[in-house]
Amino acid sequence: MFVTGTGTEVGKTVVAAAIARTLAAEGKRVAVFKPAVTGLDDHPADGPQTGQIGRLEAHRPDHVMLREAAGCSQSDEEIAPYRYGPAMSPHLAALLAGERIDPERLLATASAATDGADALVAEGVGGLLVPLAPAYLVRDLAVALGLPLVIAASPGLGTINHTLLTIEAARGAGLDVAAVVLTPWPAEPTEIERSNRETIAALGEVRIETLPELDLRRPGSWPALHPPPPRRR
Ligand SMILES: Nc1ncnc2c1ncn2[C@@H]1O[C@H](COP(=O)(O)OP(=O)(O)OP(=O)(O)O)[C@@H](O)[C@H]1O
Ligand SMILES: [Mg+2]
Repeated sequence: MFVTGTGTEVGKTVVAAAIARTLAAEGKRVAVFKPAVTGLDDHPADGPQTGQIGRLEAHRPDHVMLREAAGCSQSDEEIAPYRYGPAMSPHLAALLAGERIDPERLLATASAATDGADALVAEGVGGLLVPLAPAYLVRDLAVALGLPLVIAASPGLGTINHTLLTIEAARGAGLDVAAVVLTPWPAEPTEIERSNRETIAALGEVRIETLPELDLRRPGSWPALHPPPPRRR
């Protein structure tokens, strides 16, 4: 799967981690991949400092959360070959670091990650039209990887437009949109949220799923999305 979103901070990592965890719980060997991680300056190297417990503890860098959820032993480098401190578009973060993100290296890293794995869960960066290099978008990478696309989106106001635009941008490039996941889906959705779910499913002609609020600090507490069928004796 390639997990994208309607933008940044919409729940891509949470959705990708939940998928990875579900597959791992079914006994599959799961590899994870993220082309570039930015904003590492926001994560203290030695974990949260006193007084910062809470948000930071819950919000570990994406490649760390993905590795934990998949239960794999990939190194940072093997999950996310490009990692930068500033929180900005990866093409700019790379430029400021004096380098350029190389699409061939991304594909080679993703391909190496699948060696010996049953499944690959990749997370994009921002939304589909974010540049990884000046002329290479996240969407180009998704097309090159050829994985089914999952779109993380928020359940609330504004999501119909953002989600339908993302679906259109995906299908326009020939991507297979497997599902939209609304996250975090509240225990008691409002009429707007319920209507958003129906409207996106109808206008986007897409499968739509919801992900409840998870305790991000405790992946062990997450329910499997679809529990595996009982084993035959
Ligand atoms: N199902 C959920 N349970 C708990 N928190 C959630 C859930 N979905 C989204 N969130 C909240 O949204 C925030 C952003 O989620 P996440 O880090 O997955 O977004 P993202 O799209 O991966 O962001 P980025 O663009 O930085 O990679 C999380 O820190 C969390 O607070
Ligand atoms: Mg993320």
